Amino acid sequence: MTTIDTKNTIDSILHEERSFPPPSEFVKHASINSTQALDALYQSASNNHETFWASLARKEIDWHRDFNNTLDASNAPHYRWFYDGTLNISYNCLDRHLADRADKTAIIFEGERGDVQRLSYQELYHAVCRFANALKIHGIGCGDRVVLYMPMVPEAVIAMQACARIGAIHSVVFGGFSAAALKSRIEDAAAKAVITADGGYRGGKIIALKAACDEAMAEGCASVDTVFVLKRTGADIAMKAGRDVYWHDAIKPASDDCPPEWLNSEHPLFLLYTSGSTGAPKGIQHSSAGYLLGTIVTMKWVFDAQDSDIYWCTADVGWITGHSYVAYGPLALGMTLFMYEGAPTVPDAGRFWKLCQDHNITVFYTAPTAIRALMKAGDNFPDAYDLSSLRLLGSVGEPINPEAWLWYHRVIGKQRCPIVDTWWQTETGAHVIAPIPGVIATKPGSCTRPLPGMDVAVVDEKGNEIKQANQGGYLVIKKPWPFMLRTIWGDDKRYCETYWQRFNNKYYVAGDSARRDEDGYYWIMGRIDDVLNVSGHRLGTMEIESALVANDKVAEAAVVGRPDALTGEAIFAYVVLKGERPAGGIDKALTTELQQWVSKQIGPIAKPKEIRYADNLPKTRSGKIMRRLLRAIASGETITQDTSTLENEAILEQLQGKQ
Ligand code: PRX
Repeated sequence: MTTIDTKNTIDSILHEERSFPPPSEFVKHASINSTQALDALYQSASNNHETFWASLARKEIDWHRDFNNTLDASNAPHYRWFYDGTLNISYNCLDRHLADRADKTAIIFEGERGDVQRLSYQELYHAVCRFANALKIHGIGCGDRVVLYMPMVPEAVIAMQACARIGAIHSVVFGGFSAAALKSRIEDAAAKAVITADGGYRGGKIIALKAACDEAMAEGCASVDTVFVLKRTGADIAMKAGRDVYWHDAIKPASDDCPPEWLNSEHPLFLLYTSGSTGAPKGIQHSSAGYLLGTIVTMKWVFDAQDSDIYWCTADVGWITGHSYVAYGPLALGMTLFMYEGAPTVPDAGRFWKLCQDHNITVFYTAPTAIRALMKAGDNFPDAYDLSSLRLLGSVGEPINPEAWLWYHRVIGKQRCPIVDTWWQTETGAHVIAPIPGVIATKPGSCTRPLPGMDVAVVDEKGNEIKQANQGGYLVIKKPWPFMLRTIWGDDKRYCETYWQRFNNKYYVAGDSARRDEDGYYWIMGRIDDVLNVSGHRLGTMEIESALVANDKVAEAAVVGRPDALTGEAIFAYVVLKGERPAGGIDKALTTELQQWVSKQIGPIAKPKEIRYADNLPKTRSGKIMRRLLRAIASGETITQDTSTLENEAILEQLQGKQ
């Protein structure tokens, strides 16, 4: 591995094999800052996988009752960890800090309009207890499902923690999803309550969350008895008597003391719906103890979490990142968590950097799509602010292109901050492949090496490990880990099929392809299934196709991803209409109509960027849509594939927009 001088200009290093050693200023204060310390960690993990995790679980978690059994693999691929222990996650995030951190700031919040709020651990504890009691008053108890559809305000975290406190299972639905998407998630989980707000501020607008809730519930969601409504904007909303209750009214009769419910390690903490390659989104079910442990150890290893940090992860609580690295991990460690409600570009592209300056952010974690958008806006935005409080930068959600990595490193981190590129998934619960920043040199575009205790490999079609450097294959995890998903809510068969069947239950199959270089560094190459990654958001091509064909005018649709400089991938749809095909395969007005339609069915993030109309789709004689061919056409590549098996070869001209 060659190590290069970080003072080189971007241009000159673009053509080298780049590797960045941990910056010396960072290393001085890092918790793990020697090869020996890291080797000892890896050694202990490889000596005995179970003992390694058991001792960490005892060290990091405050148990109500200690566990006797570390791992139960008798019903593989269903695994149970620490399963006869009892604990409460909210207790671990709040109560245990009251002795020595009661007055420490737990949350600093800034709204899009600049309003700032601070909550100490003592205040957060009481707020969580009160809302937990309000849930109980409304008949919500252990095991009940509660859907959250909230803006990024402290109450979102308070509501999640309150559910955890009483053992209710939360399912957060991203506020950008439509009423229809919300409805299907509420119904799948058979939620007893919904927690929402009269709106949230984003992009200078009010997001009408309550109105979407009402629409979702107008024709279904029979399981919902109560809708809690936070007053955030004061916007005019409808309140349904007997069902809807304002948050501030609900907590009035509630005490601010609520003893935690002691729960089994395997009690489901939450469901989180995510897209797969087939059918409707799946409710990924996570555990309590194993999940909590994952968030804690990775916060320490990857973010080098320290008591003095002011930590900001920009992810919304609607995604897994907003669960593990906003609502749980940082609080379990008693850190100061910063939350921001709005868009990165309000009032201008300097907002994130101003927030970093104003709140003295030390650790900053965001997505490559945000980095690319802010890079495009120009250096004058970050240059206008003092970013000297930053000591560590993180990236998540999609591969980060070296150009964006180098900009992040140079312009934001001033070459003083290590960049941790973290590979993981909703299913893995916490980081799986990521650098330990005080020791491991980073390479732009690589998430580096698997963390201790994570047995990761790249395998070929037959499941044999690929030892040869730089040869791509399936990314798999060979041993169970405490923070892995437990099942898919209500569809265990799909759990077994999606993640385990490919290699006969031997490995967890991530759905990504990857290669490992000569230094053992991992490079994620993309999905192997029909899942797209648009701005770091996961979307199933089938979901978008179903949304399109639900429109009266559409007979058939095929959706593929196309590389996009800003969003990573962009959605490209081929549509066959019931009526006549527009001349040249383009109809701007209809495209706008279908884009709005998909927004309404799923959410604006699922809108196709481009739609091309054809008389039919390229299919093999057995009727399979030739997606690889469509992907090549969408990307403007020359077609090298054999197209002789096409039912209608002449359609190629239309699909390429030549007719
Ligand atoms: O394809 C990988 C990509 O995002 C997928 C997981 O998406 P989701 O469950 O929504 O979770 C996103 C946040 C953890 C993965 O299968 N992905 C995630 N992080 C990276 C990544 N691809 C490359 N590099 C990453 N750091």
